Amino acid sequence: MKSLFAEVVFTRLHARFTILACSLIAAVLGLLGPFFQKEFIDQLTGTDSRLHFFQFDHTLAYILGAFFCILLAQAFTQLTNFLSVREALYMQKVFAKRLYDKTLNLRVDTMSGRPVGEIVSLYATDVQGATVFLDQTLPAGASMLFPLILAPFAISLLFDVPLWPTIAVMLAISCLNTFMAFRQSRFFFNFKQLAAERIGLVNEWIQNIRTIRILSWTHYFEKNIFAKRVVETRNRVSMVTNGQMMNSIATSITFFLNAVALASLVFYSKHQVTSGELLALLWIVGVFLTRPFRQMPWFFTFGFDSWTSLRRLEDYFSTRNNTTADSSENTPVEGQDTYALQVRGLNLTVSQRRILRNVSLDVAHGEFVAVVGEVGAGKSMLLLSLLKETGARFESYYLTGKNTEQISVDEVRSHFAYVPQEGFIMNATLRENVAFIYDIEAERDSMVEESLRLAQFDLSTERVEKGLNTEIGERGVNLSGGQRQRVGLARVHYHEAPIMLLDDCLSAVDVDTEQKLFEQLLLGAWADRTRILVTHRLSALNRVDRILFMEEGQIIDSGTFEELLARSEKFRAYTTSVAKEAAGKKAEAAHV
Ligand SMILES: Nc1ncnc2c1ncn2[C@@H]1O[C@H](COP(=O)(O)OP(=O)(O)OP(=O)(O)O)[C@@H](O)[C@H]1O
Ligand SMILES: [Mg+2]
Repeated sequence: MKSLFAEVVFTRLHARFTILACSLIAAVLGLLGPFFQKEFIDQLTGTDSRLHFFQFDHTLAYILGAFFCILLAQAFTQLTNFLSVREALYMQKVFAKRLYDKTLNLRVDTMSGRPVGEIVSLYATDVQGATVFLDQTLPAGASMLFPLILAPFAISLLFDVPLWPTIAVMLAISCLNTFMAFRQSRFFFNFKQLAAERIGLVNEWIQNIRTIRILSWTHYFEKNIFAKRVVETRNRVSMVTNGQMMNSIATSITFFLNAVALASLVFYSKHQVTSGELLALLWIVGVFLTRPFRQMPWFFTFGFDSWTSLRRLEDYFSTRNNTTADSSENTPVEGQDTYALQVRGLNLTVSQRRILRNVSLDVAHGEFVAVVGEVGAGKSMLLLSLLKETGARFESYYLTGKNTEQISVDEVRSHFAYVPQEGFIMNATLRENVAFIYDIEAERDSMVEESLRLAQFDLSTERVEKGLNTEIGERGVNLSGGQRQRVGLARVHYHEAPIMLLDDCLSAVDVDTEQKLFEQLLLGAWADRTRILVTHRLSALNRVDRILFMEEGQIIDSGTFEELLARSEKFRAYTTSVAKEAAGKKAEAAHV
């Protein structure tokens, strides 16, 4: 694969070449100016110099020549800058788009070991950083490089002095600057990495701010963030100091160069120097080369900066979902239309830990299946894997007779409605949270209301004063756990997908509501739909058609409640422990 650096440099070649050509023209024009000037002064003082570059009858022609050369040089410099910024913006768009696609395509973020804060910082700093090469280094480099290469030759030609003293001084300065700039780039890299870590911490802090406050962890958290800031500040100080040193070297360099150029004139020039030549020399060294030398350290710095950002982006782009394939002994089945869902040999390994092992299951159209098992048995991961969100490997996976290998992830997901275990509420109105579309038409309100009614969310008693227009989420009413779950249920009802994946969506509702939800929704309105319900509630188990019993990532048994109770010692032990826990909670509640 092409490296990102190659992509920045070698895409849209015509544009990159135009930038180079424009800055070359600017440099040549800039250097022609002093030659006109020399001729002008030679003519004014009536000196006959060794070399003549132009011959005009009128003195004014030299002045005009110098003037237009400098003017045009400026114009080409501006054009170079404009083109460069345009290219940089173009590349930023490309990178931002790719970053966005990659982030979407990464399975559950925590599985890839990428904290949210780090991804935010890639967006905020590295996308721009990566293209600094285009809008700074390339034009600055080109407009700096050509004058630096051309100037010694111009001096040598003009005064008939050897090339080496000027070149030696310039090489020495370049080496020193490269070294300083390399140091600077390390500070830059640390600067970005430290900022990313701090953003990560602050993000975690903001997300959990209430809990942290309740647990009185605020102090420790803030100490942590401050500690990061201290390290950051130290790095910043080094960065600024190094930068200032580079600047000082760059600004004093013209003095040395002048001295060396004059010295070589005194020692090596074989003829009398005219005042026109002297002025041209001062112009070249004192004016023309000032900008390139000032830019040189920044040229390297921005170049390295861009390079470190590209490395960070490349590193992120190469992130894999942390899952690996396993083999399985089961043989694949041919897809049959009678089943809503047929899975063989589902395996999920995250960071060498096997989360799901060789799971196979058939769920018929319209079947109601419960998935039970101890905490951490892999129930949620099973649902997420069915949604193709975990990067799990399937020996075969058919949805209503379609091989999921041959259809897009979007099409796979269009078969499902899903209620996540932790619930999901957007900062939007209640209506938008159910319909999941902003600005829906008013005629759909009755459908939204019906969905809420079936989900036992009663607009008149839930303290949502503005009805469907009530803002919920962080900016509005904060719903209770049970309310969130019921909004989630209303949402999946509204969307009418054929297979419902319900992750523990009854855990926060009371017994009475649970009863009603079963009657009206799970066994009522959804009677014909395929339902997979993860639950810890025993009361749900004799209402479903079949129970899948999971342990350590495997389905170890499957059957009705009675069947499992009758034949499985482990299942009996599981129900006893769940019942005990429920009784414990009840007693605790009664005590309070
Ligand atoms: N993002 C993740 N990255 C790596 N491992 C994970 C991740 N999420 C869960 N796991 C691991 O996968 C295993 C199964 O987790 P899962 O959430 O599916 O359990 P569960 O059966 O749904 O539990 P619960 O009843 O508490 O909801 C656990 O051992 C957990 O540590
Ligand atoms: Mg779970």
